[in-house]
Amino acid sequence: MLIYLPKNAAGKAPVFAGLNFMGNHSVQPDPAIFITDAWMRANQEFGITEHRATEASRGAQESRWPVAALIARGYGLATAYYGDIDPDYDDGFQNGVHPLFYEDGQTAPAQDQWGSIGAWAWGLSRILDYLEADPQADATRVAVMGHSRLGKTALWAGAIDERFALAISNDSGCGGAALSRRCIGETVEKINTAFPHWFCDNFLQYNAKEAELPVDQHELIALIAPRPVYVASAEEDRWADPKGEFLAARGASPVYRLLGAGGMAAEEIPPLNSPVMSTIGYHIRPGKHDVTLYDWERYMDFADKHMK
Ligand code: GCU
Repeated sequence: MLIYLPKNAAGKAPVFAGLNFMGNHSVQPDPAIFITDAWMRANQEFGITEHRATEASRGAQESRWPVAALIARGYGLATAYYGDIDPDYDDGFQNGVHPLFYEDGQTAPAQDQWGSIGAWAWGLSRILDYLEADPQADATRVAVMGHSRLGKTALWAGAIDERFALAISNDSGCGGAALSRRCIGETVEKINTAFPHWFCDNFLQYNAKEAELPVDQHELIALIAPRPVYVASAEEDRWADPKGEFLAARGASPVYRLLGAGGMAAEEIPPLNSPVMSTIGYHIRPGKHDVTLYDWERYMDFADKHMK
């Protein structure tokens, strides 16, 4: 885990917690950050050869982790490499944390047991365990944040671990904030085919059968109620179905209202760069599937409003 905390904080600092895709050393160009020796997805551009990170990716994801901006606004950051919890490939769950939880004789998770997203979310809870023990961090004000597959993970972590004060989904798409039953962009069959290890095996039964799903993703978001939740989309990220992400966020409103927590203020998807800052927050910005400074500034605005 890599942690940044504001040096001159008056009290314990609120913290954003999120997993990273390319190792802690990719988060900032700081030679003191260890390079993980865990498996990593191949990436020629960043010198990830034979599935191992090298110096070439130091600081490579800096634009996604604006540490100085976070510190300036009084926030800390706690991050860890997701592949240190469970390597992101389908190996029948022999590596990563799953085997640590097998019963005697068990060799793989049962049909209704966790896949990789569940394991990554478990890792986020272990980050929170540590923050509870850190005298400089305020563990009652931790916002769990993630992008894409790790945005799916952040929503799941926020739903199952009520210690997270707030949850943020950045471009999480199918299996995250986007409604599955719309079948726009990535579908259940597409995601289960490309990434069979992400969800429990029972989910495969709904390949090309979204209409038969007993739940949809607005109910995942509703599980976070009454704690604030923020969903963000990018205009060009059609694969993630921005409108489906908005509709799921809005669709969680009845549960928030039932619990006296407001809900989503907007009825329709807002114009670009017009963030909605109600208890269920939302924005869509121009551009591609990514995490930008604009996204982070909105997350800090949202946390200022709902977590300070
Ligand atoms: C793929 C996948 C998405 C996922 C994304 C990512 O595009 O289909 O479901 O969100 O990778 O994690 O970058």
